[in-house]
Amino acid sequence: MAGQPDWYIGLMSGTSMDGIDAVLAGFGPEGITSSWHASHTYPGDLRLQLENLASDRGTPSLLGEADARLGDAFADCAQAVIQAAGLRPEAIMAIGSHGQTIQHRIHPPSPFTLQIGDPNRIAERTGITTVADFRRRDIAAQGEGAPLAPAFHSWLFQCPERERCLVNLGGIANITLIPTDNSPPHGHDTGPANRLMDLWCRRHRCRPFDYQGEWAATGEVNDTLLTSFLSDAYFARQPPKSTGREYFNEHWLEAHLSALPEQPGAADVQRTLLELTAVTVTRDIQAIGADEVFLAGGGAFNPMLADRISDLLPKARVDSTKALGLDPQCVEGAAFAWLARQRLAISPGNLPSVTGASGPRVLGGVWPGRR
Ligand SMILES: Nc1ncnc2c1ncn2[C@@H]1O[C@H](COP(=O)(O)OP(=O)(O)OP(=O)(O)O)[C@@H](O)[C@H]1O
Ligand SMILES: [Mg+2]
Repeated sequence: MAGQPDWYIGLMSGTSMDGIDAVLAGFGPEGITSSWHASHTYPGDLRLQLENLASDRGTPSLLGEADARLGDAFADCAQAVIQAAGLRPEAIMAIGSHGQTIQHRIHPPSPFTLQIGDPNRIAERTGITTVADFRRRDIAAQGEGAPLAPAFHSWLFQCPERERCLVNLGGIANITLIPTDNSPPHGHDTGPANRLMDLWCRRHRCRPFDYQGEWAATGEVNDTLLTSFLSDAYFARQPPKSTGREYFNEHWLEAHLSALPEQPGAADVQRTLLELTAVTVTRDIQAIGADEVFLAGGGAFNPMLADRISDLLPKARVDSTKALGLDPQCVEGAAFAWLARQRLAISPGNLPSVTGASGPRVLGGVWPGRR
């Protein structure tokens, strides 16, 4: 029907492993005209199974089983968001499924990335054409395969008057700096966002995350620990660069803590981890400069973190992507909806200026629906 948007779904299970997100986005000539969001927890012990696999504890059978179970869980979440929007599956052009990253190891001699969540099952159960496996073509073209969201960020949020920066605060943080002209955007993973804070909070508070940063607010930054964190070579490396939980994990944190002459209190560690995220994100933004900074991902809901980012960027406006019309929890999912749209249009999904790939590439495989 004329004037109707093209509907696409993006499915995401991020590095935080806090659940599955489905975003249903309506694409019109001006960008995204409307969006819906559904999130599901992992069924049964699937989260534990994924955690084990991501920590290299697993067998091929467990990998195969988790792949199938996650595919079904993704299909359920896609169906839930279609229902929430009051649409029929036939109205959806395609689903873009990121899957769950099990390993992202981009160093030589055999760089690879592995996402699971069987797209065959998503296509079969929903009947909708499904696009998945977005990252590996970029790696085959000598890229990092990540971050991929910057292409979407610059497509949707480019502004001719102001240099904009998008910050995704998921398990890992990534930034996109969008120039006012049409020159290539900058983007990379800056380091941890919530991942280390989450695991510290789980360990000491038995909660999945530090709600609103309330616990961190009771602690103080430990300067020795912060300096030790910041001495990690990843932070000084020039882009292109991407990282994941196989690097910023409990072993990384333990190594820094055990090198201290005196152990800080648990709340001080939490506060220092929050500061690490704020400092690494803002240093990289300042290195290039931005007039406006918009926060997305779960960390955008942490006022303590948002305030620290804002404090460290006194000259820039800092806001959430809600101010741009897209809820912070929808941005990452909408990026994969957009990447599915790019794939069907046989248009590139990567930005070589970001991933370091030898050129633009059409990303993802297509699993046809049942129509
Ligand atoms: N109200 C809140 N207060 C503090 N932290 C929050 C709040 N809501 C969400 N978060 C944080 O956001 C995290 C989830 O963010 P998100 O879903 O964007 O990450 P992700 O799934 O790992 O995605 P990505 O792949 O982008 O890393 C939670 O684990 C938590 O740390
Ligand atoms: Mg998430």
